[in-house]
Amino acid sequence: MATKLVLETALPPVACCAEVADPSITADQAEMLASIFKALSDPHRVRIVNLLANTSEPVCVCEFIPLLGLSQATVSFHLRKLLAVGLLDRRQWGTWAYYTDLREDVRRRYAEAASTVTTGMGAASDCCHPGTTCSEEGHGSGPGFYDALATEGLPEAAVLASLGCGNPTTVADLHPGETVLDLGSGGGIDVLLSAKRVGPSGKVYGLDMTEEMLELAGKNRDEAGASNVEFLKGYIEDIPLPASTVDVVISNCVINLSTDKAQVFAEIYRVLRPRGRIGISDVVADNDLTAEQRAERGTFVGCIAGAMSFEEYEAGLRAAGFEDVVITATAEYVPGMHSAIVKATKP
Ligand SMILES: C[S@@+](CC[C@H](N)C(=O)[O-])C[C@H]1O[C@@H](n2cnc3c(N)ncnc32)[C@H](O)[C@@H]1O
Repeated sequence: MATKLVLETALPPVACCAEVADPSITADQAEMLASIFKALSDPHRVRIVNLLANTSEPVCVCEFIPLLGLSQATVSFHLRKLLAVGLLDRRQWGTWAYYTDLREDVRRRYAEAASTVTTGMGAASDCCHPGTTCSEEGHGSGPGFYDALATEGLPEAAVLASLGCGNPTTVADLHPGETVLDLGSGGGIDVLLSAKRVGPSGKVYGLDMTEEMLELAGKNRDEAGASNVEFLKGYIEDIPLPASTVDVVISNCVINLSTDKAQVFAEIYRVLRPRGRIGISDVVADNDLTAEQRAERGTFVGCIAGAMSFEEYEAGLRAAGFEDVVITATAEYVPGMHSAIVKATKP
């Protein structure tokens, strides 16, 4: 009793601790990152990822065996762990499976598409299987989504390079004076269409990671004389713009290509002003399609295997803080997978 009295008088109540900032990642993002770190918690897997990041061509399982000094079964085991968290892409050619770093695979595919247009060899092959176009495969993509009126006056190369799965500029209902950001702007068709809508008092940024696409888009901007357009090199997972500076984020068939969609949504939220909105075209899967069933319908670079379901898309946007989320299927892309328009607002 005596001790208690002494403590109470000797130690007056102190002010509580300094306020702790909000965590900068959501619980879902933390879980996803933890699963990636777990998959990488083995030196052989770190070496595999490092090797693929420094190799421009897909690597066969048979090539990993001597490089890592492991049996085929052990190499395959490690590759499966890395595949499961989306760090690699896998393709079967003949008897062997080949692996690539996913983002590098996507970049290479779109660099080739840009070169097809730049060298005058025709339209870029679109979000479908290499060597064919989506219309040849019986589903829509690219220039077909834009009516002649909307594309009138645009450079032919911008229309030929169109690789989208919708027309997000009509979804977003753009107004004069607004600032717009197009994620994965490719040859620039949606940037140039948006530039017409926001007018000289507005501004449109196009963001893309592929140097060849940025070069093509820059030429198209110059040809179109669009002075309110700027193309930025960077990743949609790490947008090189300050917070709260954009009124509308658009994107056309790109978010399905990201290996870190939660991070893309968090970045969109960060750069949008309060009441800012998104108008996105993307490929979306039926809710009951498993990851394996999506992968059976097409590759990751072909915009299929990496597509989210309607429920996953909505949950991802809500977890990032968006409200008024509406996702509407517009056409069936392949069985069970659709071109869709996605709208949402930052409160
Ligand atoms: C399917 S094309 C769509 C291009 C354009 N939106 C259109 O409608 O024609 C995908 C584009 O997104 C870019 N891209 C893919 N993943 C990206 C990422 N993580 N960060 C930045 N750009 C990316 C590619 O370089 C490519 O130009």
